[in-house]
Amino acid sequence: MSADDSGAQRPDWGWAAPGRVNLMGEHTDYNDGWVLPFAIDRRTKAALRVRDDHQVLMWSAQSDDPGTAVVTTTDTRPGEVTGWASYVAGVVWALRQDGHQLPGLQLWVDSDVPLGAGLSSSASLECAVAAAINDRLELGLDPDRIAALARTAENDYAGAPTGVMDQVASMRGRAGQALLLDTRTMALEHEPCDLAAAGLVLLVIDTRAAHRLADGGGYAAVRAQCERAADLLGADALRDVSLADLDRLPDLADDGATLMRRARHVVTDNARVHEAVAQLRAGAWSDLGRAFTASHTSLSDDFAISCEELDVAVDSAVAAGALGARMTGGGFGGSAIALVRFVDVDAVGDACRSAFADAGWREPAVFAVEPGPGAGPL
Ligand code: GLA
Repeated sequence: MSADDSGAQRPDWGWAAPGRVNLMGEHTDYNDGWVLPFAIDRRTKAALRVRDDHQVLMWSAQSDDPGTAVVTTTDTRPGEVTGWASYVAGVVWALRQDGHQLPGLQLWVDSDVPLGAGLSSSASLECAVAAAINDRLELGLDPDRIAALARTAENDYAGAPTGVMDQVASMRGRAGQALLLDTRTMALEHEPCDLAAAGLVLLVIDTRAAHRLADGGGYAAVRAQCERAADLLGADALRDVSLADLDRLPDLADDGATLMRRARHVVTDNARVHEAVAQLRAGAWSDLGRAFTASHTSLSDDFAISCEELDVAVDSAVAAGALGARMTGGGFGGSAIALVRFVDVDAVGDACRSAFADAGWREPAVFAVEPGPGAGPL
């Protein structure tokens, strides 16, 4: 190790990739369905230096460990590193799997996306690192290919069996716009989402209830149940299933729900994505708010992936005047989003904080987000 291996001599931050919120279509992406996320104005920054060997040294400003994680570009394997470093090393591994010969690298990352809050801190980390390597080494990958490789890193190296929504949102976000993504065809349309012009704010209520995709079995289990429901109906995916088809599902119980109710959530949330797009285009904000709350009820009652903290955040926000609210992202904790008029922002934040205090929970973090640009150089 040379003195330079301490990580002290970081080059300037060169690239950044955002987290996301999802407005509608939850747990629809791995069912070949539609999603409507936007990239948020919080991001992970990356800095990179090329080495003349094959070692990959990584530093995160969010890590308590002042040292570094080390792998090699030539033979790193899933499971070699864990935690934040697995998302960074996973990108290196996915690029190798894709046939790219990489030199040794030093990678530094720093993020203001809250970690483990359901706002895609991991996708923002993967995409920032992938965009940095792609640019610096002139690999010539387009943003959609980078999103796909970042997802490979997340699924096959970090071990979280997610869909592709988060990485596409992080790569393809645009200021003032949401993204309508068809996850079967990968067709993407940018939709208008100028909240400020409508006198509105999208508030995130980070419940701080732990949310984990890689080591929590919940996400993988509900995903498997969705696939089983599609199988039983003889469909390729729940995207191809209608409400009427669900009558043919046997009334099988699974954890806290039934297969029919889990499938019903996916079918109804897919439909709500199309409704939400029409509402965005028409500026029908009250309708969109009501659709948020209907989606949350479906996620909580039918899909059974909400938790007490998320339900209290949603109920408190709506009671304090939000047009609507719902959990966003993978669930089992994490964040809710609330669509709120400017004048009601303080009341909604106060209502959530005081409901959490009454329940004896940690204070939630409440902050506004806006649709921002996708990954790129700084
Ligand atoms: C996580 C996953 C996404 C998606 C959402 C739920 O964010 O990474 O692929 O499945 O959960 O909609």
